[in-house]
Amino acid sequence: AAMTSGAARERLDMNEYRERLEARLGKSREMMRVVLNKAKSDPKRVALAEGSNEKMIRAAYQMQEEGIAEPILVGDTTTILRKAEELGLEFDPTIANPHDGEWNHYVDHLYERRRRKGLTRTEAAELVQQDSNYFASVMVSMDDADAMLTGLTHHYPSALRPPLQLIGTAEDANYAAGVYMMTFKNRVVFCADTTVNLDPDEEILAEITKHTAELARRFNVEPRAALLSYSNFGSVRNEGTAKPRDAARLLQNDPEVDFPVDGEMQADTALVEDILEGTYDFAELDDPANVLIFPNLEAGNIGYKLLQRLGGAEAIGPMLVGMDKPVHVLQRGDEVKDIVNLAATAVVDAQQE
Ligand code: ACO
Repeated sequence: AAMTSGAARERLDMNEYRERLEARLGKSREMMRVVLNKAKSDPKRVALAEGSNEKMIRAAYQMQEEGIAEPILVGDTTTILRKAEELGLEFDPTIANPHDGEWNHYVDHLYERRRRKGLTRTEAAELVQQDSNYFASVMVSMDDADAMLTGLTHHYPSALRPPLQLIGTAEDANYAAGVYMMTFKNRVVFCADTTVNLDPDEEILAEITKHTAELARRFNVEPRAALLSYSNFGSVRNEGTAKPRDAARLLQNDPEVDFPVDGEMQADTALVEDILEGTYDFAELDDPANVLIFPNLEAGNIGYKLLQRLGGAEAIGPMLVGMDKPVHVLQRGDEVKDIVNLAATAVVDAQQE
Protein backbone atom coordinates (compact mmCIF):
# COMPACT_ATOMS: atom_id res chain seq x y z
CA ALA A 1 0.00 0.00 0.00
CA ALA A 2 2.89 2.32 0.86
CA MET A 3 4.34 1.66 -2.58
CA THR A 4 1.05 2.44 -4.26
CA SER A 5 0.55 5.69 -2.45
CA GLY A 6 4.15 6.68 -3.17
CA ALA A 7 3.63 5.99 -6.85
CA ALA A 8 0.34 7.83 -6.76
CA ARG A 9 2.04 10.80 -5.14
CA GLU A 10 4.73 10.72 -7.80
CA ARG A 11 2.05 10.72 -10.47
CA LEU A 12 0.41 13.70 -8.83
CA ASP A 13 3.74 15.53 -8.77
CA MET A 14 4.24 14.71 -12.43
CA ASN A 15 0.78 16.03 -13.26
CA GLU A 16 1.42 19.20 -11.34
CA TYR A 17 4.76 19.63 -13.05
CA ARG A 18 3.17 19.07 -16.43
CA GLU A 19 0.46 21.60 -15.69
CA ARG A 20 2.95 24.24 -14.67
CA LEU A 21 5.03 23.57 -17.76
CA GLU A 22 1.99 23.87 -19.94
CA ALA A 23 0.92 27.12 -18.31
CA ARG A 24 4.30 28.49 -19.22
CA LEU A 25 4.17 27.24 -22.78
CA GLY A 26 0.86 28.98 -23.10
CA LYS A 27 -2.36 28.18 -24.80
CA SER A 28 -1.04 26.88 -28.10
CA ARG A 29 0.40 23.69 -26.65
CA GLU A 30 -2.86 23.00 -24.90
CA MET A 31 -4.87 23.61 -28.07
CA MET A 32 -2.61 21.46 -30.19
CA ARG A 33 -2.63 18.67 -27.62
CA VAL A 34 -6.38 18.28 -28.09
CA VAL A 35 -5.82 17.84 -31.81
CA LEU A 36 -2.70 15.68 -31.57
CA ASN A 37 -4.48 13.27 -29.21
CA LYS A 38 -7.51 13.08 -31.47
CA ALA A 39 -5.22 12.42 -34.45
CA LYS A 40 -3.37 9.61 -32.67
CA SER A 41 -6.62 7.85 -31.85
CA ASP A 42 -7.16 7.09 -35.56
CA PRO A 43 -4.27 8.22 -37.79
CA LYS A 44 -5.04 8.78 -41.47
CA ARG A 45 -3.03 8.76 -44.71
CA VAL A 46 -1.60 12.19 -45.48
CA ALA A 47 0.00 12.82 -48.89
CA LEU A 48 2.94 15.19 -48.67
CA ALA A 49 3.24 16.68 -52.16
CA GLU A 50 6.75 17.96 -51.56
CA GLY A 51 8.07 14.58 -50.46
CA SER A 52 11.74 15.18 -51.32
CA ASN A 53 11.89 18.30 -49.20
CA GLU A 54 14.00 17.78 -46.08
CA LYS A 55 11.51 19.42 -43.74
CA MET A 56 8.76 17.23 -45.16
CA ILE A 57 10.89 14.12 -44.63
CA ARG A 58 11.60 15.12 -41.04
CA ALA A 59 7.92 15.89 -40.49
CA ALA A 60 6.94 12.53 -42.01
CA TYR A 61 9.35 10.79 -39.66
CA GLN A 62 7.83 12.54 -36.65
CA MET A 63 4.25 11.83 -37.75
CA GLN A 64 5.04 8.15 -38.22
CA GLU A 65 7.06 7.82 -35.01
CA GLU A 66 4.38 9.49 -32.90
CA GLY A 67 1.49 7.80 -34.67
CA ILE A 68 -0.12 11.09 -35.65
CA ALA A 69 -0.57 10.20 -39.33
CA GLU A 70 0.45 7.73 -41.99
CA PRO A 71 2.54 9.99 -44.24
CA ILE A 72 2.98 9.33 -47.95
CA LEU A 73 5.96 11.16 -49.43
CA VAL A 74 5.39 12.09 -53.07
CA GLY A 75 8.71 12.24 -54.90
CA ASP A 76 11.70 10.37 -56.22
CA THR A 77 12.37 7.24 -54.15
CA THR A 78 16.18 7.32 -54.36
CA THR A 79 16.34 11.00 -53.42
CA ILE A 80 14.00 10.62 -50.47
CA LEU A 81 15.81 7.56 -49.08
CA ARG A 82 19.19 9.23 -49.49
CA LYS A 83 18.04 12.38 -47.72
CA ALA A 84 16.42 10.42 -44.90
CA GLU A 85 19.70 8.59 -44.39
CA GLU A 86 21.70 11.84 -44.45
CA LEU A 87 19.33 13.22 -41.83
CA GLY A 88 19.96 10.12 -39.71
CA LEU A 89 16.28 9.14 -39.72
CA GLU A 90 15.74 5.45 -39.36
CA PHE A 91 12.39 4.72 -40.87
CA ASP A 92 10.80 3.02 -43.79
CA PRO A 93 8.74 5.78 -45.41
CA THR A 94 5.81 5.17 -47.73
CA ILE A 95 6.76 6.79 -51.03
CA ALA A 96 4.70 7.46 -54.15
CA ASN A 97 7.07 8.10 -57.04
CA PRO A 98 5.34 9.87 -59.96
CA HIS A 99 8.15 8.75 -62.29
CA ASP A 100 7.92 5.01 -61.81
CA GLY A 101 5.42 4.64 -64.63
CA GLU A 102 2.51 3.08 -62.77
CA TRP A 103 0.24 6.06 -62.76
CA ASN A 104 -1.77 5.79 -65.97
CA HIS A 105 -4.95 5.59 -63.93
CA TYR A 106 -4.01 8.95 -62.36
CA VAL A 107 -3.55 10.47 -65.81
CA ASP A 108 -6.96 9.07 -66.86
CA HIS A 109 -8.59 10.50 -63.77
CA LEU A 110 -7.04 13.94 -64.21
CA TYR A 111 -7.88 13.94 -67.91
CA GLU A 112 -11.50 12.94 -67.33
CA ARG A 113 -11.94 15.56 -64.66
CA ARG A 114 -10.38 18.39 -66.63
CA ARG A 115 -10.87 17.63 -70.34
CA ARG A 116 -13.88 19.91 -70.52
CA LYS A 117 -11.79 22.63 -68.92
CA GLY A 118 -9.33 22.54 -71.79
CA LEU A 119 -6.82 19.93 -70.58
CA THR A 120 -5.47 17.47 -73.16
CA ARG A 121 -4.36 13.93 -72.29
CA THR A 122 -0.75 14.80 -73.07
CA GLU A 123 -0.94 17.75 -70.68
CA ALA A 124 -2.56 15.56 -68.02
CA ALA A 125 0.31 13.07 -68.31
CA GLU A 126 2.81 15.90 -67.94
CA LEU A 127 1.08 17.30 -64.87
CA VAL A 128 0.92 13.93 -63.10
CA GLN A 129 4.64 13.38 -63.70
CA GLN A 130 5.91 16.88 -63.22
CA ASP A 131 3.65 18.71 -60.80
CA SER A 132 3.40 16.93 -57.49
CA ASN A 133 0.53 19.20 -56.43
CA TYR A 134 -1.54 17.65 -59.20
CA PHE A 135 -0.25 14.18 -58.34
CA ALA A 136 -1.18 14.54 -54.66
CA SER A 137 -4.55 16.11 -55.51
CA VAL A 138 -5.40 13.15 -57.76
CA MET A 139 -4.22 10.82 -55.02
CA VAL A 140 -6.71 12.34 -52.57
CA SER A 141 -9.43 12.61 -55.20
CA MET A 142 -9.04 8.84 -55.92
CA ASP A 143 -9.06 7.97 -52.21
CA ASP A 144 -5.48 6.72 -52.21
CA ALA A 145 -4.85 9.29 -49.47
CA ASP A 146 -7.17 10.91 -46.94
CA ALA A 147 -5.56 14.34 -46.86
CA MET A 148 -2.88 16.46 -48.49
CA LEU A 149 -0.22 18.95 -47.44
CA THR A 150 1.79 21.20 -49.74
CA GLY A 151 3.01 24.76 -50.16
CA LEU A 152 6.45 24.79 -48.57
CA THR A 153 8.24 25.42 -51.86
CA HIS A 154 5.45 26.96 -53.94
CA HIS A 155 3.63 30.22 -54.31
CA TYR A 156 0.44 29.88 -52.28
CA PRO A 157 -1.95 30.38 -55.24
CA SER A 158 -0.17 27.85 -57.48
CA ALA A 159 -0.16 25.22 -54.73
CA LEU A 160 -3.83 25.91 -54.02
CA ARG A 161 -5.16 25.70 -57.57
CA PRO A 162 -4.71 21.91 -58.18
CA PRO A 163 -6.61 20.90 -55.00
CA LEU A 164 -9.34 23.47 -55.80
CA GLN A 165 -9.66 21.95 -59.27
CA LEU A 166 -9.58 18.27 -58.27
CA ILE A 167 -10.77 17.95 -54.70
CA GLY A 168 -13.06 20.94 -54.68
CA THR A 169 -15.40 22.13 -51.99
CA ALA A 170 -17.54 20.06 -49.63
CA GLU A 171 -21.18 19.36 -50.38
CA ASP A 172 -22.35 22.17 -48.08
CA ALA A 173 -19.72 24.63 -49.31
CA ASN A 174 -18.99 26.75 -52.34
CA TYR A 175 -15.89 28.54 -51.16
CA ALA A 176 -12.68 27.48 -49.51
CA ALA A 177 -11.03 29.83 -47.01
CA GLY A 178 -7.83 29.97 -44.99
CA VAL A 179 -8.08 30.11 -41.20
CA TYR A 180 -5.37 30.91 -38.69
CA MET A 181 -5.72 29.92 -35.08
CA MET A 182 -3.95 32.60 -33.05
CA THR A 183 -3.10 31.62 -29.51
CA PHE A 184 -2.19 34.03 -26.75
CA LYS A 185 -1.39 33.23 -23.17
CA ASN A 186 -4.97 32.87 -22.04
CA ARG A 187 -6.92 33.32 -25.18
CA VAL A 188 -7.46 31.91 -28.62
CA VAL A 189 -8.99 33.49 -31.71
CA PHE A 190 -9.68 32.02 -35.14
CA CYS A 191 -9.10 34.50 -37.99
CA ALA A 192 -10.58 34.15 -41.47
CA ASP A 193 -10.29 34.52 -44.37
CA THR A 194 -6.55 35.11 -44.34
CA THR A 195 -5.47 33.42 -47.58
CA VAL A 196 -8.04 32.74 -50.34
CA ASN A 197 -10.98 35.04 -51.20
CA LEU A 198 -9.90 38.48 -52.33
CA ASP A 199 -13.17 40.37 -51.95
CA PRO A 200 -15.90 38.16 -50.48
CA ASP A 201 -19.55 39.27 -50.69
CA GLU A 202 -22.01 38.79 -47.80
CA GLU A 203 -22.89 35.22 -48.79
CA ILE A 204 -19.24 34.19 -48.94
CA LEU A 205 -18.55 35.94 -45.62
CA ALA A 206 -21.46 34.06 -44.05
CA GLU A 207 -20.18 30.74 -45.41
CA ILE A 208 -16.64 31.43 -44.19
CA THR A 209 -18.03 32.24 -40.74
CA LYS A 210 -19.84 28.90 -40.52
CA HIS A 211 -16.81 26.87 -41.59
CA THR A 212 -14.54 28.75 -39.21
CA ALA A 213 -16.94 28.14 -36.32
CA GLU A 214 -16.98 24.42 -37.17
CA LEU A 215 -13.20 24.41 -37.15
CA ALA A 216 -13.14 26.06 -33.71
CA ARG A 217 -15.28 23.22 -32.39
CA ARG A 218 -12.70 20.70 -33.64
CA PHE A 219 -10.35 22.36 -31.16
CA ASN A 220 -13.02 22.14 -28.42
CA VAL A 221 -13.64 25.90 -28.58
CA GLU A 222 -17.26 27.12 -28.50
CA PRO A 223 -17.45 29.74 -31.27
CA ARG A 224 -18.61 33.36 -30.83
CA ALA A 225 -18.30 35.12 -34.16
CA ALA A 226 -17.83 38.77 -35.12
CA LEU A 227 -18.01 40.17 -38.64
CA LEU A 228 -15.37 42.86 -38.59
CA SER A 229 -15.29 46.26 -40.25
CA TYR A 230 -14.30 49.84 -39.41
CA SER A 231 -17.83 50.73 -38.34
CA ASN A 232 -20.10 49.57 -35.51
CA PHE A 233 -23.61 48.29 -36.31
CA GLY A 234 -24.30 50.72 -39.12
CA SER A 235 -22.37 53.73 -37.80
CA VAL A 236 -20.88 54.15 -41.27
CA ARG A 237 -23.11 53.02 -44.08
CA ASN A 238 -21.62 52.23 -47.45
CA GLU A 239 -21.00 49.30 -49.78
CA GLY A 240 -17.98 48.12 -47.82
CA THR A 241 -19.57 48.11 -44.36
CA ALA A 242 -22.79 46.61 -45.77
CA LYS A 243 -21.15 43.26 -46.60
CA PRO A 244 -20.24 42.19 -43.06
CA ARG A 245 -23.49 43.74 -41.77
CA ASP A 246 -25.57 41.73 -44.26
CA ALA A 247 -23.52 38.61 -43.58
CA ALA A 248 -24.35 38.88 -39.87
CA ARG A 249 -28.08 39.16 -40.70
CA LEU A 250 -27.86 36.10 -43.00
CA LEU A 251 -26.24 34.10 -40.21
CA GLN A 252 -28.68 35.27 -37.55
CA ASN A 253 -31.59 34.19 -39.76
CA ASP A 254 -30.01 30.85 -40.61
CA PRO A 255 -31.64 28.06 -38.55
CA GLU A 256 -28.47 25.97 -38.86
CA VAL A 257 -26.38 28.54 -37.02
CA ASP A 258 -26.17 27.55 -33.36
CA PHE A 259 -23.54 29.98 -32.12
CA PRO A 260 -23.75 33.70 -31.29
CA VAL A 261 -22.77 35.98 -34.16
CA ASP A 262 -23.04 39.69 -34.81
CA GLY A 263 -21.69 42.57 -36.84
CA GLU A 264 -20.57 44.63 -38.43
CA MET A 265 -18.30 45.82 -35.67
CA GLN A 266 -14.85 47.20 -35.07
CA ALA A 267 -12.15 44.86 -33.82
CA ASP A 268 -12.04 46.40 -30.34
CA THR A 269 -15.79 46.06 -29.98
CA ALA A 270 -15.43 42.38 -30.83
CA LEU A 271 -12.69 41.82 -28.29
CA VAL A 272 -13.43 44.06 -25.31
CA GLU A 273 -16.13 42.93 -22.92
CA ASP A 274 -16.77 46.42 -21.53
CA ILE A 275 -17.61 47.80 -24.97
CA LEU A 276 -19.92 44.87 -25.73
CA GLU A 277 -21.67 45.16 -22.38
CA GLY A 278 -21.72 48.98 -22.31
CA THR A 279 -22.24 50.87 -25.55
CA TYR A 280 -23.49 47.87 -27.52
CA ASP A 281 -25.40 45.88 -24.92
CA PHE A 282 -27.94 44.91 -27.61
CA ALA A 283 -25.31 42.87 -29.46
CA GLU A 284 -25.81 39.13 -29.78
CA LEU A 285 -22.36 38.65 -28.26
CA ASP A 286 -22.11 38.83 -24.48
CA ASP A 287 -18.53 37.64 -24.30
CA PRO A 288 -15.68 38.69 -26.56
CA ALA A 289 -15.60 37.02 -29.96
CA ASN A 290 -13.18 34.19 -30.70
CA VAL A 291 -14.05 33.83 -34.39
CA LEU A 292 -12.97 36.97 -36.23
CA ILE A 293 -14.18 37.30 -39.81
CA PHE A 294 -12.35 39.95 -41.81
CA PRO A 295 -14.13 41.91 -44.56
CA ASN A 296 -11.56 41.12 -47.26
CA LEU A 297 -8.24 39.42 -47.89
CA GLU A 298 -6.15 42.54 -47.35
CA ALA A 299 -7.57 43.03 -43.86
CA GLY A 300 -7.39 39.32 -42.98
CA ASN A 301 -3.87 38.70 -44.15
CA ILE A 302 -2.49 41.90 -42.66
CA GLY A 303 -4.47 41.46 -39.45
CA TYR A 304 -3.25 37.99 -38.52
CA LYS A 305 0.35 38.90 -39.31
CA LEU A 306 0.17 41.93 -37.00
CA LEU A 307 -1.23 39.74 -34.22
CA GLN A 308 1.60 37.29 -34.77
CA ARG A 309 4.49 39.73 -35.04
CA LEU A 310 3.41 42.54 -32.70
CA GLY A 311 0.85 40.84 -30.50
CA GLY A 312 3.05 37.86 -29.73
CA ALA A 313 0.47 35.30 -30.76
CA GLU A 314 1.46 31.88 -31.94
CA ALA A 315 -0.09 31.19 -35.33
CA ILE A 316 -1.30 27.76 -36.39
CA GLY A 317 -2.43 27.58 -40.00
CA PRO A 318 -3.41 28.40 -42.58
CA MET A 319 -6.04 25.68 -42.24
CA LEU A 320 -8.14 25.41 -45.36
CA VAL A 321 -11.84 25.09 -44.57
CA GLY A 322 -14.75 24.30 -46.89
CA MET A 323 -12.86 21.66 -48.90
CA ASP A 324 -14.31 18.24 -49.67
CA LYS A 325 -11.23 16.54 -48.21
CA PRO A 326 -8.66 18.04 -45.87
CA VAL A 327 -5.99 19.99 -47.73
CA HIS A 328 -3.61 22.43 -46.14
CA VAL A 329 -1.36 24.75 -48.07
CA LEU A 330 1.61 25.71 -45.92
CA GLN A 331 3.50 28.94 -46.14
CA ARG A 332 6.98 29.05 -47.52
CA GLY A 333 9.44 28.92 -44.68
CA ASP A 334 7.16 26.97 -42.33
CA GLU A 335 8.97 24.72 -39.87
CA VAL A 336 8.71 20.98 -39.18
CA LYS A 337 6.52 21.69 -36.17
CA ASP A 338 4.08 23.67 -38.36
CA ILE A 339 3.90 20.80 -40.84
CA VAL A 340 3.22 18.24 -38.10
CA ASN A 341 0.56 20.48 -36.52
CA LEU A 342 -1.24 20.95 -39.82
CA ALA A 343 -0.99 17.23 -40.59
CA ALA A 344 -2.65 16.53 -37.24
CA THR A 345 -5.52 18.92 -37.97
CA ALA A 346 -5.89 17.29 -41.41
CA VAL A 347 -6.10 13.85 -39.76
CA VAL A 348 -8.77 15.04 -37.32
CA ASP A 349 -10.67 16.50 -40.26
CA ALA A 350 -10.39 13.22 -42.18
CA GLN A 351 -11.74 11.31 -39.18
CA GLN A 352 -15.09 13.10 -39.59
CA GLU A 353 -15.55 11.76 -43.13
N1 ACO B 1 -13.11 28.46 -53.19
C1 ACO B 1 -13.27 27.30 -53.84
N2 ACO B 1 -12.93 27.12 -55.13
C2 ACO B 1 -12.42 28.17 -55.78
C3 ACO B 1 -12.23 29.41 -55.16
C4 ACO B 1 -12.61 29.54 -53.81
N3 ACO B 1 -12.47 30.67 -53.13
N4 ACO B 1 -11.68 30.26 -56.06
C5 ACO B 1 -11.54 29.57 -57.21
N5 ACO B 1 -11.98 28.31 -57.03
C6 ACO B 1 -11.98 27.23 -58.02
C7 ACO B 1 -12.62 27.64 -59.29
O1 ACO B 1 -14.00 27.34 -59.25
C8 ACO B 1 -11.91 26.81 -60.32
O2 ACO B 1 -12.49 25.54 -60.42
P1 ACO B 1 -12.74 24.92 -61.88
O3 ACO B 1 -11.50 25.16 -62.68
O4 ACO B 1 -13.01 23.49 -61.61
O5 ACO B 1 -13.91 25.66 -62.44
C9 ACO B 1 -10.52 26.60 -59.71
O6 ACO B 1 -10.65 26.92 -58.33
C10 ACO B 1 -9.49 27.49 -60.32
O7 ACO B 1 -10.05 28.73 -60.43
P2 ACO B 1 -9.41 29.88 -61.28
O8 ACO B 1 -10.45 30.91 -61.51
O9 ACO B 1 -8.67 29.33 -62.44
O10 ACO B 1 -8.33 30.33 -60.29
P3 ACO B 1 -8.07 31.72 -59.77
O11 ACO B 1 -7.08 32.30 -60.67
O12 ACO B 1 -9.31 32.46 -59.43
O13 ACO B 1 -7.34 31.33 -58.42
C11 ACO B 1 -7.09 31.44 -56.15
C12 ACO B 1 -8.00 30.99 -57.28
C13 ACO B 1 -5.73 30.81 -56.34
C14 ACO B 1 -7.67 30.98 -54.84
C15 ACO B 1 -7.05 32.99 -56.18
O14 ACO B 1 -8.27 33.49 -55.78
C16 ACO B 1 -5.96 33.61 -55.38
O15 ACO B 1 -4.87 33.79 -55.86
N6 ACO B 1 -6.26 33.98 -54.09
C17 ACO B 1 -5.31 34.66 -53.23
C18 ACO B 1 -4.21 33.76 -52.77
C19 ACO B 1 -3.15 34.56 -52.08
O16 ACO B 1 -2.34 35.19 -52.71
N7 ACO B 1 -3.19 34.51 -50.75
C20 ACO B 1 -2.44 35.36 -49.88
C21 ACO B 1 -1.08 34.87 -49.60
S1 ACO B 1 -1.07 33.38 -48.77
C22 ACO B 1 -0.39 33.57 -47.23
O17 ACO B 1 -0.16 34.60 -46.71
C23 ACO B 1 -0.20 32.27 -46.55
